[in-house]
Amino acid sequence: AKGDPVKGKQIVDTVCAACHGADGNSVASANPTLAGQHEVYLYNQLQAFKKGERKNPIMLGMASALSDADMRNVASYFSQQKPKAREAANKELMPLGAKIYRVGNPASHLPACMACHGPAGNGIPDQFPRVGSQHAAYIAKQLADFKAATDRKNVTMSDVASRMTDAEMKAVAEYISGL
Ligand code: HEM
Ligand code: HEM
Repeated sequence: AKGDPVKGKQIVDTVCAACHGADGNSVASANPTLAGQHEVYLYNQLQAFKKGERKNPIMLGMASALSDADMRNVASYFSQQKPKAREAANKELMPLGAKIYRVGNPASHLPACMACHGPAGNGIPDQFPRVGSQHAAYIAKQLADFKAATDRKNVTMSDVASRMTDAEMKAVAEYISGL
């Protein structure tokens, strides 16, 4: 069942806004922007935090306090907000970042991110999350987490991240933030 964005907004205003922004556009780079993210993806991440499958002490506490209906409602609200375009801060990393995102790296059999996350970073609802205009620092941390496969595991993304160097992660994160 789809969530109710009006009920979701009430929870966001009282609990989530402090870190993720009232309209889902966060300020601090460790807190992901949730505006425009796909509804099913957001719901699945909240379930993963609550079950401890995705490990983060703050979000374990937050998700544990939410019922299944609450999760559907906040996911609905955030998915309907408009993400703010962001400009990549570190322009020197753009050529490598663009290459990784659009072509990948044949030498390490790294696939192009674009194949799943889309040429404009919008992803595909119910399959691949949106990554465009996300904070570079948050993206780089997720790639490191997928590679370590302790706090966050995903068959596809852990394989992708295991093929990347730290420099490639930093560059592609910077590039994605400007999409
Ligand atoms: C991550 C939702 C409250 C800090 C996330 C994610 C979701 C989410 C869906 C994963 C995003 C993604 O995978 O792109 C919510 C909801 C909240 C809430 C619905 C309110 C009920 C908070 C608060 C804080 C916070 C109050 C700060 C005190 C974070 C951080 C992450 C995160 C740091 C990234 C964790 C990581 O690095 O893996 N949140 N959040 N959240 N949230 Fe929240
Ligand atoms: C998730 C980046 C390639 C499928 C993510 C996330 C990031 C990311 C940052 C987490 C989003 C968030 O927390 O909000 C990248 C980069 C890639 C790449 C930089 C190229 C180097 C791919 C490819 C596929 C893919 C080729 C498909 C074959 C997925 C899936 C998720 C995901 C399914 C969701 C994982 C989950 O549910 O935890 N990706 N990605 N990605 N990506 Fe990628």
